[in-house]
Amino acid sequence: MLEVARILGGVPLKGEVRAAGAKNAALPLMAASLLSAETVTLRGVPDLSDVRFMAEILRHLGASAESPEPGVWRIRAAQVSHRTPYELVRKMRASVCLLGALVGRLGRAEMAVPGGCVIGPRPIDLHLRGLESLGCRVTLEAGAVSVDATAARGGEVDMGGPMGSTVLGTANLVMAAALTRGSTRVLNAAREPEVSDLCDLLRKMGARVSGDGTATIEVEGVPSLGGADHAIIADRIEAGTYLAAGAITGGDVTVRGAEAAHLGAFLGRLEAAGVEIFHGPGFVRARGLPRRGVDVVTEPHPGFPTDLQAQFMAVQLMAPGVTTVTEKVYPHRFMHVAELQRMGADIRLDGAVATVHGGRPLSGAPVMASDLRASAALILAGLAATGETWVQRLYHLDRGYEKFKERLRGLGADVVRLPQSEMPSSLRAED
Ligand code: EPU
Repeated sequence: MLEVARILGGVPLKGEVRAAGAKNAALPLMAASLLSAETVTLRGVPDLSDVRFMAEILRHLGASAESPEPGVWRIRAAQVSHRTPYELVRKMRASVCLLGALVGRLGRAEMAVPGGCVIGPRPIDLHLRGLESLGCRVTLEAGAVSVDATAARGGEVDMGGPMGSTVLGTANLVMAAALTRGSTRVLNAAREPEVSDLCDLLRKMGARVSGDGTATIEVEGVPSLGGADHAIIADRIEAGTYLAAGAITGGDVTVRGAEAAHLGAFLGRLEAAGVEIFHGPGFVRARGLPRRGVDVVTEPHPGFPTDLQAQFMAVQLMAPGVTTVTEKVYPHRFMHVAELQRMGADIRLDGAVATVHGGRPLSGAPVMASDLRASAALILAGLAATGETWVQRLYHLDRGYEKFKERLRGLGADVVRLPQSEMPSSLRAED
């Protein structure tokens, strides 16, 4: 059943919320479970449609994937097939991280090349170039890629591209190299905390991996990997979204479980905007409204994350002054701009740069979510707007935020989810 969110703005959010496990760690870690024939138990896994979907793909590939209790997934891949069908891959682009796991475990993989998505083109050329550097034979035919790792051996692999490193590309290479004989050096490796979380799991499984968190990861191939029990890191993007919800409403929000070290650039920008930030072991707190505008430029970690760009833009709308948002990771990731404009936001878009004229009131409006982070940004804007905001296509939100409505309500937000049929038909952009 299609659902919509109705937000009544104007309430400063106050209180504590706990961050769930990171979606962008959970998906590659679930894929990594295929590298062993033994059981891998993952804890702190968020309850999201993307996670359930990844479990479905793992089952399709022959693994058993069960969640015996909330947050825990037990994956056992005694047998694995090397073929991932297009019907499944096309629904979730992140399933591309199965490629490295299949190459590592089976020495071959076949996967439909995932298409682009609403945030822009999503090529996998760097993933394929990396596998070739390991000596894999890569062929592309009829929209599918086949990888044959018969002649693979460790080597030097460069994961750098025009937009910097690639996160899932780095994950793929590390997974493939873990079971490839010889030493591999991954240069221009992604430094995102989710890559380090993957490396932590791989080490528990018996892999010889070091250097993660820096731009050079070293992998010494081993013949096989065992089972492991691993708790996933907290979701820094989800945590950042709740902190942004506190800031946009001039409230006082503490996110438990959040790691300030994973959010450095984002917290730095909030602080520069005049939002008070406090943090300690296992918590981050944001208090007060942004008092001045600040510019942001998204970059690979440790730069400002593209996955918090839309939410931060909503916060910038509160601060007086003219600021810019420059998207250097996904130059087309601005679908939220037109919807924010419908709420009265003054944002001008010129290529990969949005100019935000902040400090003007927002008014609630019916808007349409286009993708995961845009949905969150629209809800944040609704929290700060006068009157009612209705957000359609809420399924985008459910891909990446566990119990978003409940967590916001816990902070005092006036937000409800309703069947789309209960949204006044005069406001509905689609049925
Ligand atoms: N790129 C290439 N060639 C490649 C791969 C990437 O040119 O072979 C380009 C992309 O087009 C993009 C840039 O490099 O411009 C970075 O893409 P990257 O490969 O790092 O993205 P990803 O690994 O596919 C992950 C997250 C995204 C997040 C990006 C960037 C997961 C499941 N997804 O995607 O998360 O935006 O890293 O940080 O980890 C989200 O959670 O909302 C989301 C989209």
